[in-house]
Amino acid sequence: MFKEDTLKNEVILITGGGSGLGLSMAKKFAELGADIAICGRTEKKLEKATEELKEFGTHVRWYSVDVRDYDAIGEMFDSIINDFGKLTGLVNNAAGNFLSASEDLSPGGFKAIVDIVLHGSFNCTHHFGNYLIKQKQRGNILNIVTTYAEDAGSAFVLPSACSKAGVLAMTRSLAYEWGTYGIRVNAIAPGPFPTEGAWTRLFPTKKFEKKYLKKIPAGRYGDHEELANLAAFMMSDMANYMTGECVTIDGGEKLSGGQFNFIDSVMSRGKLKLAFKMLKMKK
Ligand code: HXC
Repeated sequence: MFKEDTLKNEVILITGGGSGLGLSMAKKFAELGADIAICGRTEKKLEKATEELKEFGTHVRWYSVDVRDYDAIGEMFDSIINDFGKLTGLVNNAAGNFLSASEDLSPGGFKAIVDIVLHGSFNCTHHFGNYLIKQKQRGNILNIVTTYAEDAGSAFVLPSACSKAGVLAMTRSLAYEWGTYGIRVNAIAPGPFPTEGAWTRLFPTKKFEKKYLKKIPAGRYGDHEELANLAAFMMSDMANYMTGECVTIDGGEKLSGGQFNFIDSVMSRGKLKLAFKMLKMKK
């Protein structure tokens, strides 16, 4: 669907780009002509990912850094700009999450997630925004949030829900504040897309995973390609008039809270239709 050079002349940093959804997005961006910087904490993962990314023929480099460290992130931005000559896009993808009853959380556990997700996104965004504003250069920021970042929040992932809500607020606040500098800030709220990082932490058993599927009208988990395509569109000039938006991509899962949606799970669709007919006849 995309032209091969859709992201040519772009240099995009993807945090947590060494694996999972970050790597899938990086691959799509490289396929569409972008030069790629990825960062993360695990050098082995980053090295391997870089080799895979190089196959698309664009300039690729990895940077070993923890998004929680503001000064180290600043040094990384200096290195990227030195190595590539410029930076045009940032994807705040690095995240941390685990399941826990909220009353059992330690302050350290809560802080670890807030530091990675909220502070990490701020740290990268703040350095990138300052660079763009000083250079008088247009740029693009894409924040990967979650479907529970607004409205309902979510039980058992309190630190993540609080942090992602903050990142969504940051998305909208900066979209307005930095719009005048030509900086677009958008978000994607992915539903369940299988990755090792999320699955091992959030889907403890096969039974749980199977049951979870029932919540998704599409009847399946997301395909990385689907998310990567959306991200590529949002990072491209095709979306130049789009800012402050959060696009959900979840096969309809987020809508499962509709007041009468649950009756579908009480009996089969066929039996349900019969029951509706009987109710109509009773009238
Ligand atoms: C309760 C936990 C815990 C757990 C860690 N902690 N794991 N508490 N349950 N499962 C607590 C520790 O006890 C410690 O608290 C504090 O958190 C920090 O733990 P460390 O292991 O020292 O931290 P660190 O090495 O920095 O690791 C951070 C991490 C780790 C978040 C805990 O899991 C990680 O690095 N994750 C990155 C990858 C990831 O999580 N991917 C999933 C993203 S999925 P004390 O009090 O002892 O100091 C996602 C999308 C969700 O976000 C949507 C899916 C549908």
